[in-house]
Amino acid sequence: MAASLFRTSTRSVLRAGASSVTPRAGVAGLTFARGKATLPDLSYDYGALEPSISGKIMELHHKNHHQTYVNSYNAAIEQVQEAQAKEDIAAQISLKPLINFHGGGHINHTLFWENLAPKSAGGGEPPSGALASAIDGSFGSLNEFQSKMNAALAGIQGSGWAWLVQDKQTGAIGIKTYANQDPVVGQFKPLLGIDAWEHAYYLQYQNRKAEYFGAIWDVINWKTVEKRFS
Ligand SMILES: [Fe+2]
Repeated sequence: MAASLFRTSTRSVLRAGASSVTPRAGVAGLTFARGKATLPDLSYDYGALEPSISGKIMELHHKNHHQTYVNSYNAAIEQVQEAQAKEDIAAQISLKPLINFHGGGHINHTLFWENLAPKSAGGGEPPSGALASAIDGSFGSLNEFQSKMNAALAGIQGSGWAWLVQDKQTGAIGIKTYANQDPVVGQFKPLLGIDAWEHAYYLQYQNRKAEYFGAIWDVINWKTVEKRFS
C-alpha cells in the first residue's frame, strides 16, 4: 500500500465551492514519484460532508494538517537517506519515531478521506454482502458495531484513531484503537478509520466529541470499506 500513497504530480487540492466530482474509492490515481509523498486529492468538496463535518474543518484538516504530515515525512526520509549515505545506523534508528508519526499520519488520513463520502454519493448507506455478514456475525448488527466503535473512540485518551480492522491470517474483524498517528500495520489490515484527534472535530463540536462520533456515520463510505475487506 505504501507505494500507492505517492503520486506523480501535485494537482490543486482545494476545490471548495467547485462542483462535485465523481467519488472514487481506493487509492487509484496515486502513484510513486521519486520517493516523495504528496497530498492526495479528495474526491468530494470540502463542504460536501456537512452537516456531519464542516467544510472549514475539512479544509484545515486536509490542506493544513495532512499536508504537514506529508511535508514532515518527506523531510524525515531525507534525513534517513543522509544517515544511510553516512552509514550512520544510530541516526537511522533515531529517526524511526518521526517516520512512524508523520508516515502514519499520511497513511491514516489518506485512508480516512477515502472512507468518507457525501450523502449524495452514498455516504452512510449501510454495508452489504460479505462485509455486512461479517459485521453481523462479529458484533450482532451494524448498530451494535457502531455503538462499540463509538465507545472505543470515546475511550481514547489524548489523540488517536479507532479502526475496524481485519486480521490478515484469520480474516476476523474487530475494533482496535491506536494512539497518536500509529498506523495499522503488521497483523491487521485497516478497513475503516475514524480520526479522534481534536483537530478532526473541535472547531465544530468543541467538547461534544460524542456528537461528532455520532454524526460521522452519516458520511461513512461503506463501499470503500467493502473493497478493503477480503
Ligand atoms: Fe486528523
